[in-house]
Amino acid sequence: MSAVILDGKAVAQAILQELQPEVALLRQEFGMAPGLAMISLGDDPSTHLYLRNKKRACKQVGVECFHHRLTAETTQEQLLALIAHLNKDPSVHGILVQLPLPPHIQQEEVVRNIAPAKDVDGFHPLNIGRLVTNTAPPLSCSPAGILELLLRYRIPLEGKRAVILGRTELVGKPVAMLLLHQNATITFCPDDLSMARPEIQQGDLLIVDIHKPRAITGDMIREGAVVVDAGSNYIDGQVVGDVDFVSVQEKAAAITPVPGGVGPMTVAMLVKNTVIAFKRQQTATEPLSHRY
Ligand code: GUN
Repeated sequence: MSAVILDGKAVAQAILQELQPEVALLRQEFGMAPGLAMISLGDDPSTHLYLRNKKRACKQVGVECFHHRLTAETTQEQLLALIAHLNKDPSVHGILVQLPLPPHIQQEEVVRNIAPAKDVDGFHPLNIGRLVTNTAPPLSCSPAGILELLLRYRIPLEGKRAVILGRTELVGKPVAMLLLHQNATITFCPDDLSMARPEIQQGDLLIVDIHKPRAITGDMIREGAVVVDAGSNYIDGQVVGDVDFVSVQEKAAAITPVPGGVGPMTVAMLVKNTVIAFKRQQTATEPLSHRY
């Protein structure tokens, strides 16, 4: 068997093209475009590559993008002051603080200070609560992108055994919640892959985000599994996933490539979340600057 390639790049382009006329209409109706503020600290090259892709996608759709490029020495107080300013800025409808942050910054406090209505990453505790209760949260971009990709390829999820490798706040935990709401059976695995082997072998759907290049190989998976690789590791200047694409595609029914799978979907969902946040703020009933 040779797997169907789940082409995140093509699906992301389709989503951006769907958003473009919607943004044009919103601009006409409300006299302004949705605005996204992105904050980065320091000069990590991979961070700046991600942010360039995000800016390009915003531009394509007509979303205003404001990049606040701060130095790695920025203090917690300075960062919180900028967030407080953006929370009140009526031209900003979404705020993204690019992670990871330098070690002297307390990430949890930063996330808690973003107005929940402008939290286009879905990281605020209030929005995580909404994710758990399935009450229209802004969905974290990579998990939302993974779900959207699976749905657009009509991959059946109900009753399927979804095995999740990696328990991060960015991917593993929120994607589990999204798949739970699709009525899948969810299994989390221990970090030690040798202990996880029996579970991996049972998976109809594998979601992999373990920061270990090409660690999941064809011999580990079930024939006909659907494999989503959310990993991105840099080796000799090249990005490679957590899944060994060559051996896994021989056995899988479908697989996401790296690059060109989850990455572009994450970017498209960020733009979509900004448009959703804009629309909600035009009819807002809750205070934007609420802190919890
Ligand atoms: N760093 C890597 N992925 C993400 C993401 O989805 N959001 C933010 N804010 N930072 C990231």
